[in-house]
Amino acid sequence: MSKLPNTTASIFSVMSQLASANNAINLSQGFPNFSVDERLLEISENLLTTNIHQYTPMAGLPSLLEKITLLTKKNYQRTINISSEVLVTNGATQGIYTAISAFISNEDEVLILDPSYDSYEPSVLVAGGKPVRISLNDDYSPNFNRIAAAITSKTKLIIINNPHNPTGKIWNETDFEALETLLEKYPNILLLSDEVYEYISFKHPHISVNTRSKLVAKTIIASSFGKSLHVTGWKVGYLIAPKQLMDEIKKDSSIFGI
Ligand SMILES: Cc1ncc(COP(=O)(O)O)c(C=O)c1O
Repeated sequence: MSKLPNTTASIFSVMSQLASANNAINLSQGFPNFSVDERLLEISENLLTTNIHQYTPMAGLPSLLEKITLLTKKNYQRTINISSEVLVTNGATQGIYTAISAFISNEDEVLILDPSYDSYEPSVLVAGGKPVRISLNDDYSPNFNRIAAAITSKTKLIIINNPHNPTGKIWNETDFEALETLLEKYPNILLLSDEVYEYISFKHPHISVNTRSKLVAKTIIASSFGKSLHVTGWKVGYLIAPKQLMDEIKKDSSIFGI
């Protein structure tokens, strides 16, 4: 018996296989094709022969956690607590799955803005929740009338993705103000902000939820070293969330043995 009877193979696998079979340029899967920084390759090469390959502390290697806190401070002027507000994950995808699993159960409704990364819906379904899909506007900006109309007493979480896959759309100040106004009305709704493309923006600066003081207390932010450092195959990402949310996420994350 399938827990996800209506979920088919990931669109990324389908399209990547087709691209490979037809020798086509693969625009379907989000792997940045910038070259990997030489310094990263050098560091990895040296570490490979160093005796550091056993389990790390549950939340991640302390030196990596420290770098994440410094990066967050430098780029977003947000101070996060190294021991309680950051968690290294097996890619952003596992972080997103774990965050959903920590908070969603029992037909809780999760608002997903379409088109969207295809791991959100199955993660919600496996957790026992109900995905509620809301179309973006024709220019791929969020439609707050539709979002507001979809909120019910069961709505527990809204997932946003900025910069957006697959359209590249970047949220602006007005989008965030509208979200802040809406969530002020619904203090129990949590926000999951998928920001894996945070360092890949060309025309407009990326606005991170890390910089939104009205949202940070209710938000889990997912980031990906795979995307940021152009090493998607490494599958290393991280979550940032305030302690009270992260405590719950860490309980769920411990089943991955990380
Ligand atoms: C919007 C979005 N979120 C998350 C991910 C996955 O990130 P990771 O490889 O770190 O699991 C992707 C990958 O395509 C993505 O497009």
